[in-house]
Amino acid sequence: MLHAKYGHVASFWYGKHYYVSLASPQAWKDHIKAFDRPVELFEFMRPLNGDSSLQTTNGKEGKTRRKIYDVSFQHDALQNYYVYIKGMANDVAKKLSSVPPGEHITLQQYMSVFVSKALGRVFYGAYFEDEQKVTELHRNYETILEALNQKVSDSCPANDEKFNSALNVWRGLIQEAIQHRRDNPPLREEDRNFLDVLIDFCATDEMLLSDASTFFIGGYHTTMYMLVWAIYFLARDMKIQDKVYEEVIEILGKERDVDFMNQSRLRYLKRVMDETIRCSVLAPMAARVNYEEDMKVVDYIIPKGSGVIHALGVVLMDETIWPEPERFDPDRFLPEKVAERHKLAFSPFGFAGKRICPGYRVSYAAGAQLLSTLCRKFKFHLVGGHSIQRKYGFVTLPSEEVRIMIEKRE
Ligand code: HEM
Repeated sequence: MLHAKYGHVASFWYGKHYYVSLASPQAWKDHIKAFDRPVELFEFMRPLNGDSSLQTTNGKEGKTRRKIYDVSFQHDALQNYYVYIKGMANDVAKKLSSVPPGEHITLQQYMSVFVSKALGRVFYGAYFEDEQKVTELHRNYETILEALNQKVSDSCPANDEKFNSALNVWRGLIQEAIQHRRDNPPLREEDRNFLDVLIDFCATDEMLLSDASTFFIGGYHTTMYMLVWAIYFLARDMKIQDKVYEEVIEILGKERDVDFMNQSRLRYLKRVMDETIRCSVLAPMAARVNYEEDMKVVDYIIPKGSGVIHALGVVLMDETIWPEPERFDPDRFLPEKVAERHKLAFSPFGFAGKRICPGYRVSYAAGAQLLSTLCRKFKFHLVGGHSIQRKYGFVTLPSEEVRIMIEKRE
């Protein structure tokens, strides 16, 4: 086990791997170019991701896929997404408007529908405009994950029948979306989406289904829980909430929606999202391996074939970088504060070169759209004023359901 400069060690369950706190700049430096991922670490996800997933594809093949796919989540491609996500954010606001005053709202329930719709539409196209299909998509996905968690934790025997049946329905839906897109290709170049890229590129149907699934898996819980945590933090602090509201009114007025051009002007909202990702420790780890030769990290030699866990979450809670790390304070991301820190201190999407998260901009786009729409219309109040704990996994979940009440703004 490695103790890096600041003495932190992450407590993951993955026995035979090394844990490196990336609070050490040297550890960052030594490891920044690593690309390959320990395949065994993700083996338990194989039924979901599929046999040919990018997630476990290393070397030249992995790098080629990343190069082709990444374009779908970069600036130009993102412009189209706002149009779709806008309508979905307005739907959530409409639904919340009809909730009687004082009624408790379970955030997870609303956010899972919003994120499934947004990812479904953005990744796969019109097939997931059908509300019933979206509901099937996320309900079955939740069932799969619940069973998978049981399998991994061994806390109670997994219900294989339930798991297999949910998996078949979920994969079947994505398969149908692929067929739908094949039958209805876009007429204009600018309407091409991620699925079109996959359809053109993937050599086999299994690879196509695997990667179409992998991106939903990568984006669903991360985006959904970023939103749940964000509203939780806002509901705890009316001053911060009011600042978001004031900024939205100043930049967008009462009616305008977020788009590709104006999103960057919502600077306070961006700081709220960054601080949410940090303070919730949303995605606490990444991992790398070198199967070919030994790796040197700081003063340690990692034998070839041994995985290194990037303890991203440990860095996000390091009090030498973030004083009072548990305090939610978006002003940590003021430009002058950012300039004082090591440039990799905030690396919640991974830091190691070409394999960092390809899709995080989708989360920011969805987050900016939904949070600005909701903050303009409502004040959020936490039910019972309770303090929620973090439940760590590949994505950090709130330890219990987050319930709020809303009050309409004038
Ligand atoms: C706030 C939101 C998100 C966070 C915190 C997050 C975090 C991460 C992290 C830490 C990794 C591992 C990076 C590494 O190995 O160095 C990762 C990988 C990945 N993420 Fe995200 N992510 C987010 C949103 C998304 C979204 C919206 C998508 C889908 C569009 C996505 C798709 C993926 C995929 C496919 C990978 C694996 C890439 C590969 O194997 O090369 N993520 N993400």
